[in-house]
Amino acid sequence: MPFLTAVKPLRYPHDWIRARAEGRKLTVLTAYDATMARLLARSKVDALLVGDSLGMIVQGKRSTLQVTLAEMMYHTRMVRRGAPDHFVIADLPFASFQTSRRTGVENGLQLLKKTEASAIKLEGANRLTLKVIRALVDAGVPVMGHIGLEPQSYLTMGGFRVQRATDTLLEKARALEEAGCFALVLELIERKTAEAITAAIQIPTIGIGSGPGTSGQVLVTHDILGLDPDFRPRHTARYANLAETVQNAANQYVREVEEGIFPGPEQSFSP
Ligand code: KIV
Repeated sequence: MPFLTAVKPLRYPHDWIRARAEGRKLTVLTAYDATMARLLARSKVDALLVGDSLGMIVQGKRSTLQVTLAEMMYHTRMVRRGAPDHFVIADLPFASFQTSRRTGVENGLQLLKKTEASAIKLEGANRLTLKVIRALVDAGVPVMGHIGLEPQSYLTMGGFRVQRATDTLLEKARALEEAGCFALVLELIERKTAEAITAAIQIPTIGIGSGPGTSGQVLVTHDILGLDPDFRPRHTARYANLAETVQNAANQYVREVEEGIFPGPEQSFSP
């Protein structure tokens, strides 16, 4: 389906940088399977993120730490099939790039190669991560950085909390831009710090829980759709209540089966 507005779709990293220069707000939503990818590809959202948040959202795990590279590949392939022309970003999961530059580069290359993702995302900006990113970019892999709350490091960061160390975050953002990232996710960063980071670098910043002063926003699709009635973090928005819709549909089905309404003549076949 064609894009609904005259806004140019994002195809390559330089489109992101141009969009920021033009002052266009960028939008990203998560997708973990072909069905959701197909639906979102028909919306105006700029890009789809196959986040390792899938560990918590679709696998029901307590954190993202157990998500494997094979699982990220599996989900990213599904998303690519559902959204063949969209910009799709895939997360490199925990323990796939933290051991050595060589392992990180090999895993990053394979993630892009085997899934046809448009780009990959890595959390953090320590010395090893920066080396991995530089080598991947040199090898032709578009890389999105991710600082602030780094969920893969939540144990050492003391939990899922707002990040306020302005100088360290600024330093990390500059280092990631210098390493060749085409965009940066800023997660749960105090809003003034997120604004300062955005002003300090040229590449777009994509915020989540980091206020309105970033170049764009990313959210978890399940959150905006209200698919989990018990999970409503402060930073998100809820634009639908699909939990209720799903439960009502299931209950109507049960009622109709019990009352002999379903299946009716239209759903039955005659000899
Ligand atoms: O894994 C994920 O979905 C993410 C976003 C929340 C930015 O990294």
